[in-house]
Order: sequence, then C-alpha cells, then structure tokens
Amino acid sequence: MPAMRALLTTSTLLPYVLARSCWRDTICTGPLDTAFPGPWEANIYSPSSRSVSPANILSLDIAEVISSYPGASTLSGNASALVFDFGIEVGGIVHIDYSTSGGSGALGLAFTEAKNWVSLASDSSNGAFGSSDASLRGNFDQSCDDGAIYSYFSSAGNHSYEMDLPHLRGGFRYLTLFLLTNSTDTTLALGDVTCEIGFQPTWPNLRAYQGYFHSNDEELNRIWYSGAYTLQTNAVPTNTGRWIPALTSGWANNGTLSNGSTVIVDGAKRDRAVWPGDMGIAVPSTFVSIGDLESVQNALQTIYAHQNSDGSFPEAGPPLLQQGSDTYHMWTMIGTYNYVLYTNDTAFLDQHWAQYQFAMEYVYDKVLQPLGLLNVTGTRDWARNQQGGNNTEANMILYRTLTTGSSLAEWAGNSTLASTYTARAATLASNIVASTYDTSYGAFKDNDTATSLHPQDANSMSLLFGVVSNTSAMAQSVSERLTDNWTPIGAETPELPNNISPFISGFEIQGHLAIGNTARALELIRRSWGWYLRNAIGTESTVIEGYLTNGSFAYRNYRGYYYDASYVSHSHGWSSGPTSALTNYVLGLEITGRAGSAWKFAPQFGDLTSVEGGFTTTLGKFSAAWNVTDGGRSYTASWTVPSGTKGTVSLPALPSGGSGSVVWDGRHRGYVGKGGMKVSCGGGKHSVHVRHV
Ligand SMILES: *[C@@H]1O[C@H](CO)[C@@H](O)[C@H](O)[C@H]1NC(C)=O
Ligand SMILES: *[C@@H]1O[C@H](CO)[C@@H](O)[C@H](O)[C@H]1NC(C)=O
Ligand SMILES: *[C@@H]1O[C@H](CO)[C@@H](O)[C@H](O)[C@H]1NC(C)=O
Ligand SMILES: *[C@@H]1O[C@H](CO)[C@@H](O)[C@H](O)[C@H]1NC(C)=O
Ligand SMILES: *[C@@H]1O[C@H](CO)[C@@H](O)[C@H](O)[C@H]1NC(C)=O
Ligand SMILES: *[C@@H]1O[C@H](CO)[C@@H](O)[C@H](O)[C@H]1NC(C)=O
Ligand SMILES: *[C@@H]1O[C@H](CO)[C@@H](O)[C@H](O)[C@H]1NC(C)=O
Ligand SMILES: *[C@@H]1O[C@H](CO)[C@@H](O)[C@H](O)[C@H]1NC(C)=O
Ligand SMILES: *[C@@H]1O[C@H](CO)[C@@H](O)[C@H](O)[C@H]1NC(C)=O
Ligand SMILES: *[C@@H]1O[C@H](CO)[C@@H](O)[C@H](O)[C@H]1NC(C)=O
Ligand SMILES: *[C@@H]1O[C@H](CO)[C@@H](O)[C@H](O)[C@H]1NC(C)=O
Ligand SMILES: *[C@@H]1O[C@H](CO)[C@@H](O)[C@H](O)[C@H]1NC(C)=O
Repeated sequence: MPAMRALLTTSTLLPYVLARSCWRDTICTGPLDTAFPGPWEANIYSPSSRSVSPANILSLDIAEVISSYPGASTLSGNASALVFDFGIEVGGIVHIDYSTSGGSGALGLAFTEAKNWVSLASDSSNGAFGSSDASLRGNFDQSCDDGAIYSYFSSAGNHSYEMDLPHLRGGFRYLTLFLLTNSTDTTLALGDVTCEIGFQPTWPNLRAYQGYFHSNDEELNRIWYSGAYTLQTNAVPTNTGRWIPALTSGWANNGTLSNGSTVIVDGAKRDRAVWPGDMGIAVPSTFVSIGDLESVQNALQTIYAHQNSDGSFPEAGPPLLQQGSDTYHMWTMIGTYNYVLYTNDTAFLDQHWAQYQFAMEYVYDKVLQPLGLLNVTGTRDWARNQQGGNNTEANMILYRTLTTGSSLAEWAGNSTLASTYTARAATLASNIVASTYDTSYGAFKDNDTATSLHPQDANSMSLLFGVVSNTSAMAQSVSERLTDNWTPIGAETPELPNNISPFISGFEIQGHLAIGNTARALELIRRSWGWYLRNAIGTESTVIEGYLTNGSFAYRNYRGYYYDASYVSHSHGWSSGPTSALTNYVLGLEITGRAGSAWKFAPQFGDLTSVEGGFTTTLGKFSAAWNVTDGGRSYTASWTVPSGTKGTVSLPALPSGGSGSVVWDGRHRGYVGKGGMKVSCGGGKHSVHVRHV
C-alpha cells in the first residue's frame, strides 16, 4: 500500500527519521526526496528507516517460517536457535533486547546472505585468508566460515546488546540467534531485534532515488531496482572497510578506505574495498538510479592518492592496496571519464590531470611493435583465468581508455592531445582486428596466438566500446557467437569455465544493445538476472557476484581454485549492468556531454510495450517515456530534458514494419521507414507520435 506508507511517513515518522537517519555522526549530504515520485517507488527495495526489523522467523533445522516477526522468541537449552529473516539484504549493526532466567550463558549471532548457509556460523566474508595454513585459505572444500559473535550474560535478568563497530556486518539477509549454555535450566526470551543500516551513510532518506525506471515487464523492473539497491549497499562509511592484513578467523570491518564520509566498494559483505574495474559497471548504474556520485568521487580520489611512482594505479584501494593489474589501472582512467561526464567536476579533473597523463604514458608504453598491441605485464584482472601477453580484453579496454582519454583531454583544454589519443585509438582498433579476430570462427580470440578460446569479455567489449563498427557484419557475427556460451541460467564465460559472471554479462548485454540486438539482450537479462532474483535461496533483492553453471552459489578465483562457496558476495555492484543498460538503451536515454549538456534518446522496443524512466544531473532532470500501441503499428514517445541542452533523437522503425507518419511536437514531420529517423533536438519537453500509413 504505497499510499498508506506515504501518509505514515509524512505525518508521523518523518521528524524521527529526519533527526536520526544518517549513519551515526555522519553529516547528511544526500537528498531528502526522490526526484521522480510515482507508483514505481513500490519497487524500491530500500527500507524507509535506518532501523529495520526482521520480516519472518524461521526454524534452523529446515529453515521454514515459524511465525512473522515479532513472534517466536524463546530459546531453551544449549544450541537452541531461531533464524530471523529480514526478507531482503540488509547490513549494519544489530541491536537485541533479551531476558534470561536460570544460569549464565551466551547469545550467539551468525549472519548469512544466502539461505543455504543458515547455521550457527556466519557465511564467509573474510575467508581465513590470514591463516598460515594454506589449505584453509578460501578453500572450497574446507570450512572457512566467519563463525559467530556473542553477547555473554552472567545472571538472570534483562539484557541489551549492540554489536561493536568492527563487527559491522556489511551484508546479510538471515540472522541466526542461538543460546549457548552449560546449565540445563537456562532459557532466553528474545525481545526487539533490529538492524541499524550502515550503508549509504550520508543519506537521510534511503528511498530518495534520483533516477527511476518503469516498464510493462515487472521482472525487468525488479531487476533494475535490485541493481540500484545493491549499489546502495555498496556505498559504505569510509571507516568500515575490511581490515587488512586479513584475520585468521572471524571478521573485522574497521579499515579506512578513503577520505570523506561515503565511498563505493565492490560488495556489501566483501571485499568492502574500492575496485576500479567493478566501478566500470557499477558507476554508470549508480548514475541512472540512486545518483550517488559523492561515493564515486571519494573512491577515485583514494586511488589517485595512491598512484605509484611509475605512474601505475593500485588494483584496489586502501587498506588492501593490491597492485599489478593493467586492466584495473585503465579502469581508473575510464572511471575518471565517467565521473567527469556525469558531474562536470572540473576541479577534480584539473587536480588530477597531470596524474592522469602520467598514467596514460605508463600504460601506453606497453604497446609493442610490430603488432601494435598492449602487451600485458600487470596480469591481475577480474577472476578470468588468463591474463598477460597481447590479451584481447586488455586491448579492448585500452581502446576505451584512449577514446575516453580524448574527451578528457578536450575537456582539459588540450585538443592536440585529444587528437593524439584519438589517432592512437584508431590504430589500435585496426591492430586488434588484424591480430586477434578469428575470421573462420567469427569472433575475437583471447590473444594473438593460435588459441581456440573466444572470450566473453573481449567480444562483448568489442561491441560496446565500438572497436567494430555497430553496423558491420563483423559486429553481428560477434553478437551471434556470444550466444554459443548461453545456458538456461546465463552465459558461461569461456575464460572462466563453469562460471557465470554477471559482471562480464553486464558488458555482453550492453554490447548486444549497442548494435541494436534488443531481443537478445533482454533474453540474457531474464535468463541470468531473472534466475537469481527468482531464486528463493538468494537475497531476492540484490545482484550476485557470480555463480556456477550448475546453479549453485560458488565462484572461482583467478588462480583457478575455488573459494569457499559461502565467500561469494550476494550484493555486488559489478553485476548491476542491467540497471544502466535498461535506462541507456531500452528506455534509450543517455547523456553524451558533461552533466547532460548533450544527450541522446534512442528507444529500443524489444518485446516491451511501455517504458519510462529518468535521472538527474546538476543541470536538472532528464526523463523519457514511450508506448508501443496498436500491435506495433504505432508508437508514442516523449522526453523532457533541461533547457539549453542539445541532443539527437533516433526514432525507431515501426515494430510492424512499413512506413510511419511522424507527428513531432504536434506537427507532421515526414515518414519513418525501415532505417528509422535521426533528428537533432534542443532542450525542453517534446513528444512524437508515429502511426502506420
Ligand atoms: C561452559 O563451560 C566451559 C568450561 O567451564 C566454559 O569454558 C564455557 O565458557 C562455558 N560456556 C558458556 C556459554 O558459558
Ligand atoms: C525485565 O523487563 C520486564 C519488562 O520490561 C520487567 O517487567 C522486569 O521487571 C525486568 N526484570 C528485571 C530483572 O529487571
Ligand atoms: C552447546 O552447543 C554447542 C554448539 O553445538 C557445542 O559446541 C557445545 O559443546 C554445547 N555445549 C554443551 C555444554 O553441550
Ligand atoms: C581492527 O580490528 C582488528 C581485529 O580486531 C584489530 O587487529 C585492528 O587493530 C583494528 N584496527 C583499528 C584501526 O582499530
Ligand atoms: C586522504 O587525503 C590525503 C590528502 O590528499 C591523502 O594523503 C591520503 O592518502 C588520503 N587518504 C586516503 C585513505 O585515501
Ligand atoms: C610481454 O608480457 C609478458 C607477460 O605477459 C612479459 O613476460 C614480457 O616481458 C613482456 N614483453 C615486453 C617486451 O615487455
Ligand atoms: C593466449 O590465450 C590462451 C587462452 O586463454 C592462453 O592459454 C595462452 O596462455 C595465451 N598466450 C599468451 C602468450 O598470452
Ligand atoms: C605481444 O606482441 C609483441 C609484438 O607486438 C611481441 O613482441 C610480444 O612477445 C607478444 N607478447 C607475448 C607474451 O607473446
Ligand atoms: C597538451 O599535452 C601535451 C602532452 O602532455 C603537452 O606537451 C602540451 O603542452 C599540452 N598542451 C596544452 C595546450 O596544454
Ligand atoms: C553507430 O555508431 C555511430 C557512430 O558512433 C553512431 O552515430 C550511431 O548512432 C550508431 N548506431 C546505432 C544503431 O547505435
Ligand atoms: C563545465 O564546467 C566548467 C567550469 O565550471 C564550465 O566552464 C563549463 O561550461 C561546464 N560545461 C558544461 C558542459 O556544463
Ligand atoms: C503510455 O501509456 C500509459 C498508460 O496508458 C500512459 O499513462 C502514458 O502517458 C503513455 N505514455 C506515452 C509517452 O504516451
């Protein structure tokens, strides 16, 4: 009942919420209200208050619902337990009131994101990586769970417990509460159980989204919002990163990640570190949904603050500060472009421009002749098996680095340098095709050698980054070959066999969309993200880091052995690709100039009949909507963008085929045929109606 909730919020809860709802002593800098109120707000997973209660109480043995919360509350006898299900992913500090009779004992707390790990021990967020016993570190077959934390009581009475800050649990859905006692007559009655939400610390209203998406397909809507909510859980207080060096057991989230109050990390539960590669997907999705760019600025700032003396950037931010990745080095550079594109934060660009150019020299020096390709020496990457040599994915990322670098140089007022970067990009693109395109197979190989591996990452990126022309037969072949990897629950990634990577699939769906293969992209979104969101064992509210083709929650690391299966993060922003893809390509609204000074509107209908959405920049609100009617024989579209901006509108062909008469802002304006129609457009509110003739 959205209307009822709105009423309660404004009349009774608001003063309390306003006074208390930023994280602890954090200064509120986030928005108070959503930019786009409407019925779609019912799809926002985020709670309206920073203090949340469980939804249901389950039995531990069969994990079935015993009662709603509040309800069952008595723990009697050693190891007796109840499982509190919050219904969605949450994260933060748990508070519990309880009373006991009989002797002494302890109330144990164990956390898990997925239902299959519900037990007296928490799922793994730390993986025992600090253990001196190598066989225990993140080993798939060994238990390296995080254990439990305890509230000890020495006598009968009323007790109140609040977790200490280092044990902040960044991501969980299930909380198992259990009694440990040596005496047979001890019983424990649970009172209030609440979680104080730690994420999105600077926001007084966790539902104040600055973007929205709504379509006639409820599952796509939920997928869009699960990506958005995931990104909220990844925006964390800057002093709650995973402690490094990793502990041998248990967990501690007391590491300092960056300056400022809020920062975007890879995952809610773990790693709770800044990872620039992950941001390649997470930041575009953040921009179109929640609109939190403060966390992005702090993440980039900390990477720049830790640039190495040779010009390279760390692979991950502090305290982890992992080194040695050419691809993540370049993702910081691409991330700089994304951030400045979304914000026009000229001061940030000026401040880091010399460092950026140094970083460009560092990586471009690795381009060797005669092939003219980047020879990867920093071999760490996302969890793929192979990196090194003239790896194709790394070269696709270098292409994107050069084209976005050209825009940055232009914005920094150096058009000579912009031309240099553009020329280098063009040469690189033809070198990539010449040395790594497998003509007989019809897709890119993993590198310049005679390998039979045709990776999902490089091929997806070739389409998305425009290494191959979006109108070419080569592009269509690459798109078609990518579907060879598809299973009923997602795309198996050849460069990490048996695994489905929603991170790389995020590039794949955008690659299909970039060349107009709408149906193919929607199909993969529904197979992969739809599968996870429908899976009642998962969080039913966020996007997962990775999973296996057999449908189990596990994910392999880059060295080729398995992590402890419960180490997988179920709220990982790198998997939020559909959120930006649905807005930028399906709704079709995307900014192309700083802060939206230039934009494009190019709807892709697929099998949808009605889509609307929008986002916000410092210039104002951008929104659009379209409907396909009359069985595809007509459509209407409208868009509202800030005045003073300019854009291009691509009107699609009628789904029914044939010729359509175009009425633009109420006046007849020619006919749209098979190839659609492209029109320049200024700011303000516009609409078109296209009808079969
Ligand atoms: C049970 O007794 C053992 C041995 O005295 C003690 O170490 C342990 O802490 C006790 N457990 C609880 C929950 O009180
Ligand atoms: C515990 O709390 C209950 C309810 O607030 C109260 O009635 C009772 O007296 C308290 N018991 C003790 C030992 O303080
Ligand atoms: C209580 O249960 C825990 C967990 O199952 C177990 O490790 C412990 O030995 C038990 N203690 C007693 C006194 O039975
Ligand atoms: C963080 O927690 C770990 C584990 O308890 C501890 O060793 C470390 O000193 C703590 N760091 C800070 C800065 O408090
Ligand atoms: C905070 O900013 C200062 C000054 O730029 C820098 O030296 C320091 O490394 C930054 N801290 C973190 C954690 O990024
Ligand atoms: C090319 O990269 C490989 C590792 O991927 C490295 O061993 C080799 O030294 C590099 N070649 C040059 C000339 O840097
Ligand atoms: C080329 O790619 C294949 C497949 O990933 C890999 O086995 C091989 O080691 C790579 N070769 C070089 C020189 O990087
Ligand atoms: C990558 O290509 C260059 C030639 O451009 C060659 O010198 C280098 O050995 C290749 N790298 C590997 C690891 O084969
Ligand atoms: C542009 O960048 C190049 C390379 O860093 C530099 O030599 C040149 O002076 C710059 N030009 C301007 C106008 O800043
Ligand atoms: C293909 O790319 C060109 C050049 O970037 C662009 O103008 C055009 O709109 C793109 N076409 C589609 C269908 O995306
Ligand atoms: C970006 O910011 C700069 C400096 O404030 C300003 O001069 C420029 O007009 C802005 N550009 C756009 C496209 O908003
Ligand atoms: C699309 O249809 C819906 C429901 O009929 C309507 O509310 C909305 O205004 C329409 N949008 C456009 C752009 O025609």
